[in-house]
Amino acid sequence: MSDLLWQKSGVKTDQRIMRFLAGDDVVLDREFFLFDIEASAAHVEGLARIGLLSKAEAGDLISELDQLGEDFKSGDFVLDERFEDGHSAIEARLIERLGDTGRKVHTGRSRNDQVLVATRLWLKSRLMNLSSICTAVANICIHRAESDVLPMPGYTHLQRAVVSSTAMWFAAFAEAFIDNAWRARQTFALIDANPLGTAAGYGVNLGLDREFTTRKLGFARMQVSPIYTQLSRGKFEMAALDALGAATLDLRRLAWDLSLFTTTEFDFVSLPTQYTTGSSIMPNKRNPDVIELMRASHASVAAARTEIEQLLSLPTGYQRDLQSSKGSLVHGFHRGLGALALLPDLLTNFGWNAEKMRSAIEPSMYATDVAIEAAVAGVPFREAYRAAAESGNQAGDGRNPESSLAARTSPGSGSNMCLDALRDRLSGLQ
Ligand code: ARG
Repeated sequence: MSDLLWQKSGVKTDQRIMRFLAGDDVVLDREFFLFDIEASAAHVEGLARIGLLSKAEAGDLISELDQLGEDFKSGDFVLDERFEDGHSAIEARLIERLGDTGRKVHTGRSRNDQVLVATRLWLKSRLMNLSSICTAVANICIHRAESDVLPMPGYTHLQRAVVSSTAMWFAAFAEAFIDNAWRARQTFALIDANPLGTAAGYGVNLGLDREFTTRKLGFARMQVSPIYTQLSRGKFEMAALDALGAATLDLRRLAWDLSLFTTTEFDFVSLPTQYTTGSSIMPNKRNPDVIELMRASHASVAAARTEIEQLLSLPTGYQRDLQSSKGSLVHGFHRGLGALALLPDLLTNFGWNAEKMRSAIEPSMYATDVAIEAAVAGVPFREAYRAAAESGNQAGDGRNPESSLAARTSPGSGSNMCLDALRDRLSGLQ
């Protein structure tokens, strides 16, 4: 490991304990490294603005930081166990290249606000990513709700209930993902606050230009209280995972439907072969593994959120426990966004088996239509309900799915889908 930033004479270190302290942190810091570099450059500019660095020193530091970013991207610089963490790596490199100028970079900042600002920028980029996947999903669902109007059984309790349609199925997920995109943006707005300049959590005896670094880094506002800034670590990560979890929760249901609908028993859906795999022993099998792993992604997101929540049983101020939030955060987002990113193509490419869906609609599924029609004609609904129940499978004789859907005029259903309302909400988000 390179020299420790905080090493003082007479302080003993033990390699085994040092490895425990660092854990997998330095490797996880690869996720945040470019954001850490960007924030370090803003900090340098901020120091120059209040006269703590000369223009020349700031220029040298910023070009070394740029170079480090380039070297990291090209693989010429590898962030690994040689360093305690990403923050130490940045400072070590600046000192190696610029000597005393490098030794000035940490003036007025702490690794506590440094890790917060890098994580905050990372979270913002992931939430933007989440929002754009959700809007893409919603767009495709609206489009297919218009183009695929095929009758299918509607289920409650997994029992055949009433006639539904592929359009209604798609419209459901369109609206769900509009909500999810909105949620991602709301969460983005919540966390869009600059923690840089709060130092260890109690401010510093310098007139740092925090408004400048806020603008420079593209934050909507400054996070004002240094103590709250520390308290928001983990809390904001949980909010972001909640937003991601809202989307993976809907994905889990969607994937559940598709895996059910591809069984031989249902056979409503055909999946392009790239979404299936073969079995190592059963030559007859094609399994919807991709759909199943998409369904599983929610578990990782929920687990990440839970782990962070458990960590936050802490008093005010920075505690090293907080470092442990990084692994769950990165893993949760990796799994969640990885699964969601496949969704637009999947939704574009799978096919419906119209005949199978139609033949699964049995006459009893018109019973609700029959009862309501009688109620409209003046029979008290409870009586009409009983009559329809007693005529059992005959209730729907002579009826067809198209007319059932055409008569379904309540807003949001059958022939009154209100897709324009969904489209309007979606374009408000784009
Ligand atoms: N790796 C540490 C973390 O993620 C960086 C901050 C260290 N701060 C400290 N006071 N030891 O929390």
